[in-house]
Amino acid sequence: MTAPLRQTEPTVVKVALDARAYDIVIGRGLVASLGERIKALRAGAKCAIVTDATVAKHHLAAAAAALKAAGVDSAAVVVPSGEASKDSATFATVCEAIIDAHIERGDLVVALGGGVIGDLAGFAAASVRRGLDFVQVPTTLLAQVDSSVGGKTGINSRHGKNLIGAFHQPILVVADTALLDTLPPREFRAGYAEVAKYGLLGDAAFFSWLEANWREVFAGAAAREHAIAVCCRAKAAIVARDERETGERALLNLGHTFGHALEAGCGFSGRLLHGEAVALGMALAFEFSARKGLIGEADAARACAHLAAVGLPTHLKEVPGGVPGLDELMDLIAQDKKVKRGKLTFILVRGIGAAFVENDVSAAEVRAFLADKLAQL
Ligand SMILES: NC(=O)c1ccc[n+]([C@@H]2O[C@H](COP(=O)([O-])OP(=O)(O)OC[C@H]3O[C@@H](n4cnc5c(N)ncnc54)[C@H](O)[C@@H]3O)[C@@H](O)[C@H]2O)c1
Ligand SMILES: [Zn+2]
Repeated sequence: MTAPLRQTEPTVVKVALDARAYDIVIGRGLVASLGERIKALRAGAKCAIVTDATVAKHHLAAAAAALKAAGVDSAAVVVPSGEASKDSATFATVCEAIIDAHIERGDLVVALGGGVIGDLAGFAAASVRRGLDFVQVPTTLLAQVDSSVGGKTGINSRHGKNLIGAFHQPILVVADTALLDTLPPREFRAGYAEVAKYGLLGDAAFFSWLEANWREVFAGAAAREHAIAVCCRAKAAIVARDERETGERALLNLGHTFGHALEAGCGFSGRLLHGEAVALGMALAFEFSARKGLIGEADAARACAHLAAVGLPTHLKEVPGGVPGLDELMDLIAQDKKVKRGKLTFILVRGIGAAFVENDVSAAEVRAFLADKLAQL
């Protein structure tokens, strides 16, 4: 379904980080204004647009034309699509290409793509000439509600995901909701898991709104813009209070400990996308919280029912190709979160919209819970 072009003024969410404060601008068709917005922030700056091959096919020409129309010079750096581009070889290629394009202090890197491009281009921006300013133009739902906001950038190590990186805040995020119209439905749905996450972790009213309006969010009308704005506001507030994740920011990892273990168990392959793993992980976090008596079974069932209604997996039996065994799952969980004297840190819930950080979860209790889940398969 195609929503009308521009109906209203874009929504602006402010990320209040003093000298590093920036705006997230959200709306349909915003890429057309990219050049003017960049010129207003950094008059005379040149841009290196870093993107992936798939996004380039759909959206690079429009982004480059918007810059040109505003008199902003740009060069494109295109890398292969997919998580494999978050490696040190591609990182080096991107850094060299930015230098080749004569991007200097005062110029800009523009990350046009999903979370892979945001993390890769953001880290290149943090590194080239010891730090260039950068602008995020997120093109996946996941990137619009999560990865483009908050300044975490980086690449993967052979020892694990996101182990090499830097905190480097963008100077602007332009979330054009129309860019999501070309996103494959499965990718949109996976990103929606992170949208539901904001309701489940801290905003019960938003979760109720999503239960009633998720179809409109998928269809791409004003509801999509609203949902993205709510998520960005929530993330911006958390990041402003805890930029470096010494406390509250960890709540954004709801569902991610179980989720990462499943994602890693599937070899970070197309079998299970990140958001799909997070949906499963949130279902498990709610069920584990119910088992611990923190919430009633009805709350866990309600959380799972919504995720399932949009087509996200909530049962381990839905993992294509099967789930790793109990020992492997526990090893993967232990790798993700260091076990301290048999205790793990988990994000648990006291209700829908009431997540908290629990540092004292016994590994034995998690093991018994997962053993029961695996026995039900
Ligand atoms: N920095 C953070 O805070 C943070 C937070 C969450 C996730 N992440 C990272 O984000 C990455 C996942 O991001 P993602 O899910 O956006 O993956 P992605 O960037 O790989 O995009 C998913 C796929 O969609 C394609 N695509 C992107 N935009 C498109 C569009 N508009 N139309 C058609 N196709 C399009 C891409 O080419 C890719 O094949 C992971 O590496 C994860 O570690 C970072
Ligand atoms: Zn996530």
